[in-house]
Amino acid sequence: MVWLQKLFTKTGSDDNLEANNYERDWVSLDPEKFGNTKIYFSTHEQIDLYELEELCDSVGWARRPLRKVRKALEHSYLVVSAWEVKGTKKTMIGFARATSDHAFNATIWDVVIHPRFQNKGLGKVLMKYMIRKLRSDDISNVTLFADPQVVDFYRRLGFILDPEGIKGMFWYPD
Ligand SMILES: CC(C)(COP(=O)(O)OP(=O)(O)OC[C@H]1O[C@@H](n2cnc3c(N)ncnc32)[C@H](O)[C@@H]1OP(=O)(O)O)[C@@H](O)C(=O)NCCC(=O)NCCS
Repeated sequence: MVWLQKLFTKTGSDDNLEANNYERDWVSLDPEKFGNTKIYFSTHEQIDLYELEELCDSVGWARRPLRKVRKALEHSYLVVSAWEVKGTKKTMIGFARATSDHAFNATIWDVVIHPRFQNKGLGKVLMKYMIRKLRSDDISNVTLFADPQVVDFYRRLGFILDPEGIKGMFWYPD
């Protein structure tokens, strides 16, 4: 069982973890599953593209050109990263982003939890966090494209396949 706790960090020097004025949402973790690990979510944290690539590598995703990944992040409506903190070192252990028309619709992409942290409830908390952020902006239609092996993960979060028979359709260049 994991749950969220909201805290705010203050400004400090540039070199340590308290350096940023970012809002960090610390995840309260079950010590039985996480030991004394500390994890927070952020919508503001600077994303190092190489670190993101490593995270995507860790789950076996195909590499994408970094310049396109950068552009995709820049044009995303919401980017959430999850960070493990050990002493003064932080490591990105989760990620998800959403694109949106800012009014009605958002689509969630690139949901990933590092294998070391999978099956502990963190993916669920990350998704709920995304949905809460989108709902707080009054966005009511949240969609995503699920790989076949994770359909049930999203189902458990309330996502529905083909609501009212509506089908997702794709066009690819020849
Ligand atoms: C999919 C992913 C984000 C899930 O994160 P996670 O932290 O391991 O998932 P959680 O531990 O929060 O699981 C939440 C629930 O979903 C279930 N679940 C997790 N992965 C599942 C899967 N692949 N299929 C079905 N159910 C799954 C868990 O058993 C748990 O069930 P419960 O609430 O009844 O206990 C993670 O496994 C991952 O990063 N996978 C590789 C990347 C990927 O496939 N991303 C999705 C692309 S569409």
